[in-house]
Amino acid sequence: MSENISVLISEEKIKNRISEIAMQLNEKYKGKKVTVICTLKGAFIFAADLVRQLETDVRMEFLSASSYRGTESTGTLVMKQSIDQPITGENVIVVEDILDTGRTLKHLKEYFTKQEPKSLLLVTLLDKPDRRVADIQCDVVGFTIPDKFVVGYGLDYDQQYRNLPYIGVLDVQEVK
Ligand code: IMP
Ligand code: MG
Repeated sequence: MSENISVLISEEKIKNRISEIAMQLNEKYKGKKVTVICTLKGAFIFAADLVRQLETDVRMEFLSASSYRGTESTGTLVMKQSIDQPITGENVIVVEDILDTGRTLKHLKEYFTKQEPKSLLLVTLLDKPDRRVADIQCDVVGFTIPDKFVVGYGLDYDQQYRNLPYIGVLDVQEVK
């Protein structure tokens, strides 16, 4: 197999959009403490760049989950690694890489809501609305993108390409 990547969102565009999101969050959480939950692995670069522009007190948590499709259309949540400390009474910002079918985030939202945070904000770098199956919206969306498989800036294909500084579209071609 040979793989070609074309740039969909440049490094500069990502940087500028993250600054805009950070400004929005700094305004919203002025003088308040926040707990930022980074969903692994895909959101690690986005979360790292975003939190470095936050001017409020930040507690970091990391979580690794995916949605497993059983007989129900939305499947169930498989938690590989959960957060260390409870988020009850806290201002929580969940940072996701991409909202695709929405199954994972829908489950995560329910999981966090049960812990009764003071507030819960869902932030995603990318949104592919054409693929949505679960009824879920994010409060903050970095970029809305077409239904293409993307890599880079944290996102992978078979654990590859997470280190690319831009978001690219992966075009996999079979070599004859
Ligand atoms: P969903 O919203 O539950 O379907 O799952 C979203 C997860 O699927 C994301 O957190 C990614 O890990 C993965 N994913 C979905 N679309 C893409 C893509 O285009 N590139 C890389 N990973 C993707
Ligand atoms: Mg993810």
